[in-house]
Amino acid sequence: MEEQIKEKRVADSLTEQFHEIRPEHLNGADVMFGGILMGWIDEVAGLTAMRHSEGHVLTASVDNLTFLRSLRQHDIVVLIGRVTYVGNSSMEIRVDSYLEKIDGMRYPVNRAYLTLVALDEDNKPRRVPRLKLETVVEEAEWETGKKRSELRKQRKKEGF
Ligand SMILES: CC(C)(COP(=O)(O)OP(=O)(O)OC[C@H]1O[C@@H](n2cnc3c(N)ncnc32)[C@H](O)[C@@H]1OP(=O)(O)O)[C@@H](O)C(=O)NCCC(=O)NCCS
Repeated sequence: MEEQIKEKRVADSLTEQFHEIRPEHLNGADVMFGGILMGWIDEVAGLTAMRHSEGHVLTASVDNLTFLRSLRQHDIVVLIGRVTYVGNSSMEIRVDSYLEKIDGMRYPVNRAYLTLVALDEDNKPRRVPRLKLETVVEEAEWETGKKRSELRKQRKKEGF
């Protein structure tokens, strides 16, 4: 009998995390260390991928880390992780980071695409649930995710 592959919605694993910038997050210029934000981005991507795949995952690659604005003490940062594309064992997770002002307005800080791979109990890649696309935005992200996935494979093969 053919194996039934589970299907999950983007909304099922959508993950939102908040942080307040504290003194220990700042560099000598009183601006947040980029590396701490990178760690939070990886954590949110990991949680999103674990929630989609229902098991252990690891980060295979990170695509884009452009910092659009600085973060300072007492700023509130919001990170939102969502699955945009799934392959066989890999999941592309988009993490958007925002500075949230006290009136609730959000200003983009960073958008990163990470690829995480689901592992079985022997730490070998395992098949992940399919992604059920519910909106035109999710469909458009899937198409661009597919292109990015092909580019990553080409980059890995050709070493550029
Ligand atoms: C990620 C890892 C498991 C892939 O191993 P591999 O031998 O290339 O495995 P496979 O060829 O079977 O690829 C498994 C999946 O990972 C994807 N993949 C592999 N390398 C990738 C890369 N650099 N970027 C994006 N995806 C990648 C493959 O496309 C494949 O996806 P698919 O199953 O959806 O088609 C392996 O490179 C690894 O363990 N890396 C270390 C990861 C780690 O420890 N991260 C934490 C950082 S300290």
